[in-house]
Amino acid sequence: MKSFACLTFVLLACNCINGLFLPEMEPGRGRAVTRALSRFTRARRLSQPAHRIIDPTEDCFLVTSEEGELFFKSAGDATVCGIYMIAAADRRVQATFNYMDVPCENGGLVAWIDGWELSGQVWPADAWDEARVVETCGRRAPGKLVSRQNAALIQYRVPARGKGFSVTIRHLKNPKPCNVMLFGSEGVFTLRNHGASGNCSVVAVAPTVVRVMDLNVGQAVKRGTSLEIETGTIHHCSKRGLTDYVDIGGASGLDHTKMEVLDNVCGLDSSEGRRPALIACEDTVVRLVSSGRFHNSVTLAFSSLNPEDIEQADLLCGMNDL
Ligand SMILES: *[C@@H]1O[C@H](CO)[C@@H](O)[C@H](O)[C@H]1NC(C)=O
Repeated sequence: MKSFACLTFVLLACNCINGLFLPEMEPGRGRAVTRALSRFTRARRLSQPAHRIIDPTEDCFLVTSEEGELFFKSAGDATVCGIYMIAAADRRVQATFNYMDVPCENGGLVAWIDGWELSGQVWPADAWDEARVVETCGRRAPGKLVSRQNAALIQYRVPARGKGFSVTIRHLKNPKPCNVMLFGSEGVFTLRNHGASGNCSVVAVAPTVVRVMDLNVGQAVKRGTSLEIETGTIHHCSKRGLTDYVDIGGASGLDHTKMEVLDNVCGLDSSEGRRPALIACEDTVVRLVSSGRFHNSVTLAFSSLNPEDIEQADLLCGMNDL
């Protein structure tokens, strides 16, 4: 009985990946969504969604950084649509379905995705597992769903006219943020490993200018007294065989494991005034790689890359493919 339940889960997950989860189902729509997101600032955002009705014709690709309750009622369209939720860096997204009436016939489905998915690429790709996708149809509303990072997604397809769902979005505190998505292209953020091993990253869905404001990577030993010798910024740390470092670069899509690395740094450097990195990529990515032996932190300032500065860019993504 146990193995049967397990098998059913796998099949459901597969069905989801081939179906609702992949916008490849709707090639035109997928491309449009990508284009829309690369022009992140132009995407339709919700301003006051305390109680807000999703317009099936306008809001198929919806990006919201607000809390509140959303209602969706189908106009009979079988398109896959998405609610891209994003919260402050130190928050998680919680979704509670208050009402659900999405007939399973003709592919009717609502999927909660603990992360973001665009054009078949997911984020955070290196921390992905089946538990990140929960799908449902009928009148069976899933319980409270909470994301592991500050961005999550609800994808839905409701072909049955007049049917739909309502969902309440809340932002909960995240005491140890690891993977972080930046809302827009401006902001200052400190990536930390909290003494743990593994990778943490910050992604901006935009070309940006990145400045390292403060660097403490591979220096502060977890136990015992650390000398805290200011080493300055060390480059090519991974080539030197150092285990803890920061990759700065970009990616052509949400999958930051495929990032192109411009700079690879570590050390202890509190002086500002380092040269900014101009990243002309669809997404800007900074990844902190930690062995678990150190308390690492890197403070980064992001600002938008002006189109006229693209010629001076330090990294132009996709050039290796040409
Ligand atoms: C962390 O990133 C590095 C790339 O710098 C990669 O080799 C490694 O597999 C990643 N670790 C995990 C746990 O994903």
